[in-house]
Amino acid sequence: MVDNSQSISAVNASGVTVPDPAPDLAAPQPPASTAWFEEARFGLFVHFGLYSMAARHEWVRSRETMSQEAYDRYLHRFDPDLFDARQLARTARESGMRYAVLTTKHHDGFCLFDSALTDYTSVRATGRDLVREFVDAMRAEGLRVGFYYSLLDWHHPDFTVDEHHPLRGTDAEKEPRDMARYRAYMEGQIRELLTGYGDIDLLFFDFTYPQKGPEAWGAEQLRSLVRELRPGILVNDRLGIPGDYVTPEQYQPDRPLERDGERVLWEACHTLNGSWGYDRDNHDYKDPALLVRMLVESVACGGNLLLNVGPTGRGALDPRARATLRDIAGWSALHSRSVHGAGPSAFTPPPNALYTRRGRHLYLHLLAWPLKHLHLPGLAGRVRYAQFLHDGSEIRFQEMDQAPPEHNNLAPQSQPSGTLTLTLPIARPDVLLPVIELELDGPGTEA
Ligand code: GLC
Repeated sequence: MVDNSQSISAVNASGVTVPDPAPDLAAPQPPASTAWFEEARFGLFVHFGLYSMAARHEWVRSRETMSQEAYDRYLHRFDPDLFDARQLARTARESGMRYAVLTTKHHDGFCLFDSALTDYTSVRATGRDLVREFVDAMRAEGLRVGFYYSLLDWHHPDFTVDEHHPLRGTDAEKEPRDMARYRAYMEGQIRELLTGYGDIDLLFFDFTYPQKGPEAWGAEQLRSLVRELRPGILVNDRLGIPGDYVTPEQYQPDRPLERDGERVLWEACHTLNGSWGYDRDNHDYKDPALLVRMLVESVACGGNLLLNVGPTGRGALDPRARATLRDIAGWSALHSRSVHGAGPSAFTPPPNALYTRRGRHLYLHLLAWPLKHLHLPGLAGRVRYAQFLHDGSEIRFQEMDQAPPEHNNLAPQSQPSGTLTLTLPIARPDVLLPVIELELDGPGTEA
């Protein structure tokens, strides 16, 4: 739904290159306020609102061109009795996530926070400031906090009716609407969000499209306001002007992203099943092993993964989401050091494998299980010790120019010199994605 092509193609157009031979040492140091983001690598996205009750995608009001009155049936019955921010925060932390981003207001305009500028809030509807609950709970679990804020607002009377608006094609198109007043409303709400809830780490604006862009949003002004209120905050790129990081949505970049030859921070956001809001009859769930692989792919390309959950109309995670996060948690508990604080490596991995690197450690993620031997080009003389990450068991290795001796009389296959060969067990470890930790030695491998 979102048009990311601008930011991403701008990055791609400037030419994406592979890292130089010692990127882990040579990469420019980010300013302090972004360091946490790179270190964190994995975050939780939470889409919750009135649309969760319809349970058929967060765009339901637009897709079904529903009038406000029709949509109000959810407002009148909104009762998030199972929305348990503390539980959500625990789940996020156990899953290996280090930050969480909540929809403070989605395109329908409904606010989960206490706003003096509208009655259309969870506080008016139920007495609960869900943003407050979320912020407190995430902080208590040691997670960084981000706010998603929709630039679109189908409830606000001054937001002009455009191609996405539920009232498109009705008389509302002819009503006088004043985007300047809407801009003032947004500024007021951003001020509320950034002054009423302590130090917020990240702001995820959403989104810019052909009919509305930086001018409609007053993007520059909004960004200055954000910076003035929270100088250290990270702002994404969906105001239609460059942000602190770029936000590929529902696809995986396969290399580090650059703009004008400089690496940029990025975060791929992904759903569990293609919908951000709770979507009861959609069973297109991604396998937990795939999600872990996507996380590692992101890290291997210098990015983050923001993984979404859409709680039910009552505010709970559905069993499938819970099971998925439980599986991811199982993997994270044993493998998180290949992710947190890790980034791309200059070494080229063998086929069906990914490298991430953290100082003197290189992490080899095996996407397919090889038979007994795995050849690692360029690593001979560079590895001091190797072990599986899940159980700390040693992996033996040899450095040679020829295939392992027992194969020589059958089908001699020479390996390029400089190859290091690992000897692996026949049985694949029973984890979502096996990881081998290689302790590096030699020049250029200092932490
Ligand atoms: C798109 C969708 C929106 C969702 C967002 C998440 O912009 O319009 O519903 O919240 O992506 O990145």
